[in-house]
Amino acid sequence: MKTKHLLVALFICVIVLPVENGCINDSQAEGTDKKLYDMARETTGFSWYKKSDALLNTTSGSGHSFPYLRTRYNQTAAVRLDDQGKIIAGSVFPEGSLIVKEFHDSSRKLARYAILYKESGNQDADTKGWVWGYINADGTVAESAAEKGKSCNTCHNQSGNIDYMLMNKFFP
Ligand code: HEC
Repeated sequence: MKTKHLLVALFICVIVLPVENGCINDSQAEGTDKKLYDMARETTGFSWYKKSDALLNTTSGSGHSFPYLRTRYNQTAAVRLDDQGKIIAGSVFPEGSLIVKEFHDSSRKLARYAILYKESGNQDADTKGWVWGYINADGTVAESAAEKGKSCNTCHNQSGNIDYMLMNKFFP
C-alpha cells in the first residue's frame, strides 16, 4: 500500500504537475519579460520605421542572427520620428516609449522580438531608463530583461546611436 501511494505521489509530482504548470519549458516569459512580450504582440497603434512594414535584410552590423527585420514605434515613441519615419537627430525618447524590432526567419515567419521600453521606474531598467527585451515569438525568453541589456548595450552604445537606437545608422 505504501509503495503504491509513493508511486502515485511520484507520478503527480514528476509527470502531472510540470505539464499542468507549463513548467516543462521553464523559460516561458514571466514578470517584466511577460509584460514586454504582451506589449510587443499588440500590433495596433504603431508606426513603422520609414513608414514601411516591408521586411528588411538584417545588416552585417546587427548582433541578431535572423535574416529579416522590421521596426515599429508605439505612439509615445513615434513623436520622435520625422515626417519620413526616421528618428530625429539628438532625440531622447519619452517615458512609455516602446520600440519593437521583429525578426523573421528565412521563411519570413515572425521568430523573435527585440524590445526597448522606456520605464525608468522598472526594476529591470538600465541607467538611461530603458528595459531590454529579447523574447521569441512563442513566448520563450531569449534573454531576460533582468540582465538589463548586458549583451546588447555595448553594441547599441556605438557612435551614431540616438538614445541607443541604430536604425538610422544602418538604414539611412
Ligand atoms: C553587435 C551589435 C548588436 C547587439 C549585440 C544587439 N543589437 Fe540590437 N541592433 C543592432 C543593429 C545594427 C540594429 C539596427 C537594425 C539591424 O541591422 O539589425 C539593431 C536594432 C535593434 C532594435 C531596433 C531599434 C533601433 O533603432 O536600434 C532593437 C529594439 C534592438 N536592436 C534590441 C536589441 C536587444 C534587446 C539586444 C540584446 C538582447 C540587442 N539589440 C543586441 C545591433 C546590435
